[in-house]
Amino acid sequence: MSSKITIAIDGFSSTGKSTLAKQLAKYLGYVFVDTGAMYRAITWYSMQNGYITKEYFDTTSLINSLSSIQLKFEFKPEMGLAVMLLNGVDIEKEIRTIEVSSFVSKIAELAEVRSKLVEQQQEMGKDKGIVMDGRDIGTVVFPTAELKLYMTANAQTRAQRRFDELVARGDTVTFKEIYDNVVERDYIDTHRDNSPLVKASDAIEIDNSEMTRETQFELVLDLVQKAIKLK
Ligand code: DC
Repeated sequence: MSSKITIAIDGFSSTGKSTLAKQLAKYLGYVFVDTGAMYRAITWYSMQNGYITKEYFDTTSLINSLSSIQLKFEFKPEMGLAVMLLNGVDIEKEIRTIEVSSFVSKIAELAEVRSKLVEQQQEMGKDKGIVMDGRDIGTVVFPTAELKLYMTANAQTRAQRRFDELVARGDTVTFKEIYDNVVERDYIDTHRDNSPLVKASDAIEIDNSEMTRETQFELVLDLVQKAIKLK
């Protein structure tokens, strides 16, 4: 029997979930899936088609067009990472903007969007050997995952991380804009009716406000090794 496990990483935005998940997947030779990228891709598609603007949200048109949206992660060996393809087009850069971040929580509230994406995520992880990060991975997507992590950090620290990332990419943003977006998304993500962000009862909480990436990685690797032994 394979000793591969499923690792579910949930938590607030900008807690470094994807960075940790990527590090772990590389180390363990597992598949890494950033489910936030999938919600962001649907958001970008909705913006492109005029279904969502600051003034209105045409949920019916979005729901009707869901069957024509095909999402795929494509591994780019030269970059050492996977990029998001929407109907075959690389939209990795487009989905990381503050505009997409400002609409994504509304898109992620829709039950139809969630059930389509959850089904795809479960298919991706059916053979285990996967590290998936998001908001509902340990609670909804893989409730029986062998290792569940719940990441937190204070909002100020998280906004600063996201701000530094966007500035490094050359985006023109203010710290306040990013901070407000982080706080607003925290609220929507934890208060929505459908699969809100909650800590699974068997998840291990990691507050990394004051932790270096290296310390965190060592701590988590230890948890992974224990979970593999227990399997
Ligand atoms: O991880 P992220 O910040 O890229 O995620 C973008 C948004 O997508 C986030 O505000 C909430 C939503 N999301 C979700 O509802 N469920 C997931 N499994 C992943 C993300």
